[in-house]
Amino acid sequence: MSAFRTIDWKNDRLVLLDQRRLPEETVYLELESSEDVAWAIREMVVRGAPAIGAAAAFGIALAALRGEDLAAADERLRKARPTAVNLFWALDRMKAIWEGSSETPEALSQRLVEEARRIAEEDVAANQAIGQNALPLIPEGAKILHHCNTGALATVDYGTALGIIRIAHEAGKRVHAFLDETRPRLQGARLSAWELKELGIPHTVIVDGAAAHVMKKFGIDLVVVGADRIAKNGDTANKIGTYALAIAARHHGIPFYVAAPTSTVDLATPSGEAIPIEERDPKEITHCGERRLVPEGSLVYNPAFDVTPAELITAIITERGVVYPPFEENLPRLLRDQG
Ligand code: MRU
Repeated sequence: MSAFRTIDWKNDRLVLLDQRRLPEETVYLELESSEDVAWAIREMVVRGAPAIGAAAAFGIALAALRGEDLAAADERLRKARPTAVNLFWALDRMKAIWEGSSETPEALSQRLVEEARRIAEEDVAANQAIGQNALPLIPEGAKILHHCNTGALATVDYGTALGIIRIAHEAGKRVHAFLDETRPRLQGARLSAWELKELGIPHTVIVDGAAAHVMKKFGIDLVVVGADRIAKNGDTANKIGTYALAIAARHHGIPFYVAAPTSTVDLATPSGEAIPIEERDPKEITHCGERRLVPEGSLVYNPAFDVTPAELITAIITERGVVYPPFEENLPRLLRDQG
């Protein structure tokens, strides 16, 4: 368990660690309604695909406890962010309980709270299994390149790609992580570095543009990243900059792994072409805090994610096992055989 709680449920309130304020301040916000939760997801108080899914599930539980219209709450939460499929996956699970329910409001609320708790607990277990499944792929003394934040802050606990680094460290593998700072929201510099520092895991923060140079100069052994949505053919949406990393890894002959729970696999999306890519406020690029960096009048394009084509991915590490190409055949098999 981590020393902090990304997502907690206390006295019928959702408690979120405000990730906008890390690493300077550790502030927890108490949320009371589905509006609050939709706002927190949109504003990235909570972020990272699995954490967004679990928070949205608790958003439905809050809506039920307050007597909100559940269909409206569901719709509001679905609109919060478009790319991470875990959001829709978690809301579908909640909907399967509330839709057409004939229970009393009290009984239904309790069942929804229990289901949200279950989603949260399953996430922690999945992440630990991802870490264990990855262990044989991590060489002794590995230098590992990582993008964005995929740790305990991006999930309910432990993390996916960063969780692998943590579990390899705990297994005594003497790993060293190179962390892309991850423009423009700096999840790598602010959040991944904070997590690894707290855990005492050796790491070096680099600017995103240094990644290819670092691969060559330091002899990176592997790249491991998370995912927001994995299409049926293995194409993977993840934080902007992931695609460029995968191309650089291929050029240098470095294995490129995607780590994600099966709740991130979206078999209904045939390929990356069909994954909706969020575009965020240009201010994330034009400004640093309140200070303007880009001249007034310059055009700005701010996609939050990109799609890495399946052919650049060495393997996808899930809680149910490691999946190799051809993903088009092996992802559906993984979900079918063990679902
Ligand atoms: O915009 P963010 O910070 O929510 O983006 C997060 C990522 O892209 C992560 O890599 C992904 O959600 C996996 S988190 C385990």
